[in-house]
Amino acid sequence: MNETIKIIESLKTVRKFSDRDIPNEDLATILKSCVNAATASAQQAYSIIVVDDKKVMEKIGYIGSVMLVFTIDLNRLVDTAKYLGFEFKIESPIADFITSSTDTILAAQSAAITAKSLGIDSFFSNCVHRGNINRIYDLLNLPKKYCFPMIALILGYPDEKETKLTKKGRLSGPGVIHFNKYKRLNNQELENIVSEYDDKDKHFLSLIDDWREKGYNHYLDYFYEIWLGCSKLDEENDNQVETNKYSEVKKALMKAGFLS
Ligand SMILES: Cc1cc2nc3c(=O)[nH]c(=O)nc-3n(C[C@H](O)[C@H](O)[C@H](O)COP(=O)(O)O)c2cc1C
Repeated sequence: MNETIKIIESLKTVRKFSDRDIPNEDLATILKSCVNAATASAQQAYSIIVVDDKKVMEKIGYIGSVMLVFTIDLNRLVDTAKYLGFEFKIESPIADFITSSTDTILAAQSAAITAKSLGIDSFFSNCVHRGNINRIYDLLNLPKKYCFPMIALILGYPDEKETKLTKKGRLSGPGVIHFNKYKRLNNQELENIVSEYDDKDKHFLSLIDDWREKGYNHYLDYFYEIWLGCSKLDEENDNQVETNKYSEVKKALMKAGFLS
């Protein structure tokens, strides 16, 4: 196994970080890696906000040595267009959103891999668009238009008391990888997936290991009912929870011009 594969396989989420600072040169290397990621039409349709103030990190959601907030951002393009005398327009808000978010996420994953290669652990969180999303715009001075905070990557060195490390449970077979043509899973394969999620050794979500005590037969029963708020097929459906949970995100996307 080569070094790159070893680093990718050793990626793991750390949620509790020590006070140790990340050296400036390592941070610079991580940031340089971000901008090396693939990007559509050389747009780099993102901005990365480097947050080193722990009070601000706390307000955003989690504390590490440094937090990188990856935002979709077209404002640099807007300003450059204006500078050159063009009136900026986007052809399709949703198509632009998809392309820009792909640019943004590729940059973010490059940061996580580079950090790990430098002995720095990380944690991805969507805390940047949970709750009152306007607080993120205010805290980070983000433009309201054509800018949307996608994901936070919290970086640092693990706290000695960190006990909630995951064991890298991931599906990797049928239903995830399809050769040549998409293939829907049959009941036996679905059963295998349900069992795989239940496997204690695979430990898909170590933070949520109390579903058995809560009386669920399968982790996925817990996931659908508690996390997604799904009803059983023979019960009345109520989508209210989901609608409320994401209404702020929807409003922010509309303000940003990515949703009409
Ligand atoms: C888009 C996205 C948002 C996430 N948000 C959170 C979060 O807010 N809180 C959390 O505990 N885990 C969150 N996670 C999950 C962790 O980052 C991590 O992927 C998961 O715990 C699996 O850990 P592992 O990579 O060590 O196996 C998020 C992951 C992604 C990709």
